[in-house]
Amino acid sequence: MNDFPDHDVVVVGGCGHVGLPLALAFADRGLRAVSYDINDVVVKTVMDGQLPFREDGAAEVLTRTLANGSYRATTDPSVVATADVVVMVIGTPVDEHLNPDPHAVPMALDEIAPHLRAGQLLVLRSTVYPGVTRRVEKLLAERGLDVDVAFCPERIAEGRAMTELFTLPQIVSARTAEVRDRAARLFGNLTASVVELEPEEAELAKLFTNTWRYIKFAAANQFYVMANDHGLDFERIRDAIRHDYPRAADLPGAGFAAGPCLLKDTMQLAAFSDNAFVLGHAAMLVNEGLPLYIVSQLEAKHDLAELTVGILGTAFKGDSDDTRSSLAYKLKRILQFRAKAVLSTDPHVTTDPTLVPMADVLARCDILVIAAPHREYADLVTTTPVVDVWNLLGNGTRI
Ligand SMILES: NC(=O)c1ccc[n+]([C@@H]2O[C@H](COP(=O)([O-])OP(=O)(O)OC[C@H]3O[C@@H](n4cnc5c(N)ncnc54)[C@H](O)[C@@H]3O)[C@@H](O)[C@H]2O)c1
Repeated sequence: MNDFPDHDVVVVGGCGHVGLPLALAFADRGLRAVSYDINDVVVKTVMDGQLPFREDGAAEVLTRTLANGSYRATTDPSVVATADVVVMVIGTPVDEHLNPDPHAVPMALDEIAPHLRAGQLLVLRSTVYPGVTRRVEKLLAERGLDVDVAFCPERIAEGRAMTELFTLPQIVSARTAEVRDRAARLFGNLTASVVELEPEEAELAKLFTNTWRYIKFAAANQFYVMANDHGLDFERIRDAIRHDYPRAADLPGAGFAAGPCLLKDTMQLAAFSDNAFVLGHAAMLVNEGLPLYIVSQLEAKHDLAELTVGILGTAFKGDSDDTRSSLAYKLKRILQFRAKAVLSTDPHVTTDPTLVPMADVLARCDILVIAAPHREYADLVTTTPVVDVWNLLGNGTRI
């Protein structure tokens, strides 16, 4: 038994970067939503009315939905029994050898299985290794649980969830039309556009989505290195290519392509294709190689071992506070070995005690490297040389 009133939706992993905005979005659209999460610190933060991370537009929804009673968060798994729909969106990282873990979702499912009940809809929303949906269906059948299963991947970008949950089409997949319709009705609370696929297609659709983006970043980064090696400014070339030329509109700028999703999902796809995913691995080499390239360029032009380098931005992307898999930290480790000293700063990151204030970095560093294109840096005025691969300052991208 549990002490909870009925809910429409419980989100498992519901205080994470994807789970929390999703639960809040459902609550704001009038559903009774609850986040279940094993992390008691973030659950307390959320129940205190605070966001555990930056997410534009979510703070006011949290305040509103806590106040009107349509949302709450808990560490008690028995809440799973109280909802019609159970959405699972726990993390699915690759390990230190870049192997995916197809057991992450089934293991989390094992933990909540005692609280599942017949007639519920279980929506898998984590990005999963292909075949996990079928594995989950099998596990439920073995337990004799008559639960509908759908796989409906999340495609928002962190920081834009509270807009994109309502504007992006939702890919919905399930084994039968009835279950697909049930899942489509759920997401119809958020978005007008639903795209239907088979589960195995949808699993690949999500991995292809992220991998495609990762490969595009790699193409841009490789072009950047080529141009820079010849003393040319990639951004000037890119501007020219894209000028009134729609076929090149999707050529991204150069920069660190990092974070908790793009590399790991490319590696999931590589494992799925028996490590014969040449483009995926090539993209990894290019993107993960950019910090080393920058340091080698600095060494070629300066007596780096005698210089203090400042890293501006340690989040994995601009205007974010999320440092997961940030290449700023790879850059820092390389510089700790090859420069005299390294200082790093970030206006948004609150979880890294080694960061120093921006003023200290500006006062003490001989060279600056923008590692996360936070908009705060666009106004930077300094006589210190700046490596600006994003061309945030508008002075070109050449090192
Ligand atoms: N971060 C993104 O921008 C993004 C975008 C689209 C899809 N995704 C995918 O969404 C999934 C979640 O990513 P995230 O960034 O939100 O991760 P996250 O680490 O921020 O959140 C996961 C949450 O799940 C909780 N959790 C872990 N195991 C649990 C369990 N057994 N029971 C209950 N709660 C548990 C954690 O405490 C955490 O709060 C991943 O598969 C990811 O690839 C992420």
